[in-house]
Amino acid sequence: MTDFTGSRILLGLTGGVAAYKAASLARLLVKAGADVRAAMTASACGFITPATLQALTGQPVFTDMWDSRVPDNMGHIELSRDRDLILIAPASADFLAKLANGLADDLLSALCLARRCPLLVAPAMNVEMWQSPATRRNVAQLRADGVSVLGPASGDQACGESGMGRMLEPQQLYDELAAQLAPKHLRGKRLLVTAGPTYEPIDTVRGITNRSSGKMGYAVAQAAAEAGAEVTLVSGPTSLEAPCGVTRIDVTTARQMHEQVMAAVPKADVFIAVAAVGDYRVADAKSHKIKRGSGNLHLELEPNPDILGEVAGLAKGPMCVGFAAETENLRENARAKRQKKKIPLLVANLGQETFGRDDNALILLDDHGEHELERAPKIILARQLIAHIARMLAEK
Ligand code: CTP
Repeated sequence: MTDFTGSRILLGLTGGVAAYKAASLARLLVKAGADVRAAMTASACGFITPATLQALTGQPVFTDMWDSRVPDNMGHIELSRDRDLILIAPASADFLAKLANGLADDLLSALCLARRCPLLVAPAMNVEMWQSPATRRNVAQLRADGVSVLGPASGDQACGESGMGRMLEPQQLYDELAAQLAPKHLRGKRLLVTAGPTYEPIDTVRGITNRSSGKMGYAVAQAAAEAGAEVTLVSGPTSLEAPCGVTRIDVTTARQMHEQVMAAVPKADVFIAVAAVGDYRVADAKSHKIKRGSGNLHLELEPNPDILGEVAGLAKGPMCVGFAAETENLRENARAKRQKKKIPLLVANLGQETFGRDDNALILLDDHGEHELERAPKIILARQLIAHIARMLAEK
């Protein structure tokens, strides 16, 4: 369990039935040593009472802009100045809209607008509210403004409907806060990460790709950014959003990925190749749609550049980390691949079927041997991997 001693958190609650989960979160954080100050909107007080939060946090709870307990009635400024971060959980659709537009007509929204510390929000709402164009716009704006959006999850909802919009569970929010407050082991380091599949055109409407979802690479980029690194993510086609604070460069083909990586690599301290790069491309891709013929159609494939191999071969290149997707003889193939690519760290997927899943199990192979990382959500594994890389950099 993470030690939160010395961490000062402002927990903001807005109107939503998930407010009861925020009470559990407050309990978890206080038990782990955090100093938790709660502020609630009037709607939040319709779901649980300030007395509950006061009892759990051991501190006064703030609900009113004009609270005489705060010097000079400056609660909207004073209450966040000594905080390491603000987490709004649950964050209602209405509150996200206010944040996205800079409204400040109650204590909590004014606190958020006047803050100097990072802001995290854990949305909680009905599936239709979450999917509405207005909420989509507001969430995109918040992300662009540097706000971290945690979740939501999908599942049964209190209203009886089902879908995206459930607030993350207290333990998940706890883990997110732990990551946010974790020591910045990679501050000052520049990481270059590739992620996702590549797509090689056959003609203007067809192509060769693979089943990589990009989830592992995006998790690695997120974990590196959380550890304080400056992160560039060169991504093949995925449906994922760039993690907060990460610079994403979109590419389609392996050659485009190669070009972008080689342009960025001189500035990188570490290169992590997570992408499932197509080893071959169609030699003669057509610039029109191929018509159906009567006989067989032959495609000639020519090799793509080995991006990781090339970066690993640079005289003054970055520290290189490779991923290995093997379907058989995992350990032997992974060991051989590390030797062949001459890289200090290779990450082998222990799970048979990892593409598209949210969890995985990994083995890290380095000069010291093999380290197994147990099955866990990809973001948890990514944080363990980044911690391992930070230790290797420190040892260098
Ligand atoms: N990789 C790369 N460029 C390529 C192929 C792979 O940078 N053209 C990187 C991947 O991002 C991964 C590592 O090399 O980090 C291993 O990828 P993998 O496909 O498992 O290995 P290959 O070298 O292609 O070997 P094989 O497919 O024969 O197992």
